[in-house]
Amino acid sequence: MNGDSTRCVRAVAAEKIPGSPMQRGPVFAAPYQLSAEEGTETDTYARASNPGWRDLESALASLEGASGALAVGSGMSAVTVALRSLLTAGDTVVVPSDGYYQVRAYARERLEPMGITVHELKTTEMASEVAAGLLATAAGTTVVVAETPANPSLDVVDLRAVSERCRSVGAVLVVDNTTATPLGQQPLELGADVVVASGTKTLSGHSDLLMGYIAASDADLLARMGRERALSGTVLGPFETWLAHRSLGTAGLRFERQCANALALAALLESHPAAEHVRYPGLPGDPAHDVASAQMRSFGGLVSFEFGSADRFHRFVAGSELLVSATSFGGIHTTADRRARWGDPVPDGFVRISCGIEDTDDLIVDVERALSAL
Ligand SMILES: Cc1ncc(COP(=O)(O)O)c(C=O)c1O
Repeated sequence: MNGDSTRCVRAVAAEKIPGSPMQRGPVFAAPYQLSAEEGTETDTYARASNPGWRDLESALASLEGASGALAVGSGMSAVTVALRSLLTAGDTVVVPSDGYYQVRAYARERLEPMGITVHELKTTEMASEVAAGLLATAAGTTVVVAETPANPSLDVVDLRAVSERCRSVGAVLVVDNTTATPLGQQPLELGADVVVASGTKTLSGHSDLLMGYIAASDADLLARMGRERALSGTVLGPFETWLAHRSLGTAGLRFERQCANALALAALLESHPAAEHVRYPGLPGDPAHDVASAQMRSFGGLVSFEFGSADRFHRFVAGSELLVSATSFGGIHTTADRRARWGDPVPDGFVRISCGIEDTDDLIVDVERALSAL
């Protein structure tokens, strides 16, 4: 007769199926077992592959129109895994000067000291003659990271044009699809080699987990990035994997409402004297509208605008019943963030609003009231 502990361990591993999927409960130590024949197993160790990731990754690959996807621990992990697998000393990377600030920080603080040349370009310059000149003289393997619509400027770049420029000099195009999501934009179809994104935002959508993913259709690129994930250990935990997979099922409905709310909010702000420089790619008068219309299926849930000062922003949020002051975005609640607090190159009163899934009329009435009380 085995001891109590042995009996307990054997009791929970009653079905010896290698790599059984994570169940809905918090059972984090799944019964991974090797088969008798060495070298034939798929799921030998969870850091390299596991069935939970495969469920999520096949859903993400299908949404991005990719042949494969890799789930990772956060959007930043997606960026760093992709860049570390592509770049080495002597190479060149181009990053947006007006995109997510931590990507610039990573390039400057980590890649530059490794001997990688870092260039920053505005999103609107990524397909310009300036970019062409830079790419023509860049040393080593060149990787261009484009983020469109950029967070927080919401500027948009023509991805077909950037990809043609990259292709003509053999550069690799990595597109951050966080703000648009694969429901709003298909970067691989537009010519990107790799998609990176934060799933912390709209795709998971409940502001309750961190995750990221990489998607691509080139088997060699996917293998290199999968190897980097396994060696660096930048993985997604089983519970987040399950939660993200479960949440994807409602992403379409949530996104549809977020886009409708964003368009209605942008139209209100545009006509309101308290708000200036309203940006939303879906507004017909927005400088990005034509390019966005040509490459986006819908325009996303983010709207930006300017108040004169930080104080007006704080009074605006305090005067609203629905707006929550928070820095992440893409969740079911409408949130507002004053980006200058994070050091983004924007004026003090620059506000980015992420529209939630509240009823459009309720959101508009609430924001109108808060604006009028300023
Ligand atoms: C465009 C963009 N890319 C990447 C990230 C990083 O994502 P995460 O916070 O999941 O690491 C963010 C986060 O806000 C983002 O806005």
